[in-house]
Amino acid sequence: MKNNIFWVGKVDDRKVPFHRLTLEKGTTYNSYLLKTEKPTIIDTVDIMYSREFVENLKEHINIEDIKYVVINHVEPDHAGALPALLNKAKNATIVTTEKARELLNGMFKLHSREYLIIKDGDTLDIGGKTLKFFETPYLHTEETMITYAIEDKVLFPCDIFSTHIATTDLFNDLAKEDIDEDFKVYYSLIMSPHRNYVQDMIGKIKNLDIEMIAPSHGFVLRENVQKYIDLYDRMSSIPNKNLEKKALILYSSMTGNTGKIGEDIGEGLRNLGIDSKVINVKSSSFEEIKSQVEEANLVLLGSSTRYGDMIGNIEEILKKITKLDLSNKYLSSFGSYGWSGEAIEIINDYLKTTNGKLLDTSYIIKATGDNSIKLPLRMSFYDDKEGKELSIKTGRALGELLLK
Ligand code: FEO
Repeated sequence: MKNNIFWVGKVDDRKVPFHRLTLEKGTTYNSYLLKTEKPTIIDTVDIMYSREFVENLKEHINIEDIKYVVINHVEPDHAGALPALLNKAKNATIVTTEKARELLNGMFKLHSREYLIIKDGDTLDIGGKTLKFFETPYLHTEETMITYAIEDKVLFPCDIFSTHIATTDLFNDLAKEDIDEDFKVYYSLIMSPHRNYVQDMIGKIKNLDIEMIAPSHGFVLRENVQKYIDLYDRMSSIPNKNLEKKALILYSSMTGNTGKIGEDIGEGLRNLGIDSKVINVKSSSFEEIKSQVEEANLVLLGSSTRYGDMIGNIEEILKKITKLDLSNKYLSSFGSYGWSGEAIEIINDYLKTTNGKLLDTSYIIKATGDNSIKLPLRMSFYDDKEGKELSIKTGRALGELLLK
């Protein structure tokens, strides 16, 4: 491809089953070999092509010479051939994030292998080239990172900037058809639920000099590179329709912790441009609350737990809310507690009796692919760092769901 960088991937021209879809145009699993003094592989191919991948690699390099295998993302279409590769590449070190190490060890039992764990902004000299790594969580799974070859000005972003097309033409300027629609469809299927993280990623790469983007599916982009970065930037910016969505967060708080969770969830929702109101029910009339409920697309109710029950007047509010027409509204509950947090479950019991859509963990996983969010959001006390982070993240996930 460029300066001793080789494509060593696999073109899969089947109708490929993928994320409950069928990729009608097939796809490719792009793996790259950087032939330096410390030969390096960036990502592998789908698990079902492991043997073929290793056999093909032998034509390019003595596999025992491979020094590093960079794993940007652990899904089996990219990390699947890693065990077969490591079986031959006895001396290779796996370069990846801490979260990815946990997942790889869980999937492939690689505990005995040497890892180099990277953090955002770390660099690695591979003997003639320097790699720089950026953590890009949730693009599209938690452990994800991207790799930039500094001297060559090539970005290896794995799934990001991909297209699902089984091309043998490799470069976008050689494509026989315009690929922009496929590029946008890919974004909307895989990346759009994580648009806030896309913005974080754009912030990290915007000062890099990028001449080529070598993703893990479809075409390598070497013509109009900035256009594709700008497309991601535009598609992930807050669209006007976000501003039309409304969320309402009602809470009753004993020590203030449940109130903090509510405020944080509101912040996460507002990060996506969603109009979010957070109301302490102690100081509001039901008439005010009712008009807000009627306008909202998402209604969350939170309470602290005291003596195994809700506190304040939230139960009176709930009794009235459950009599309203809540069809087409998403509903959930949250709360901070000291021991067992019964109030959160009791709120959920009330919500189950309505005609709204009561959200649970399974719903969020299926809608956003994020399995780090648990609903209802239950929190023992409240930690200013981890509690805050989780609450904001939950707000963002709910926002993404609202915008789908
Ligand atoms: Fe192409 Fe997330 O795997």
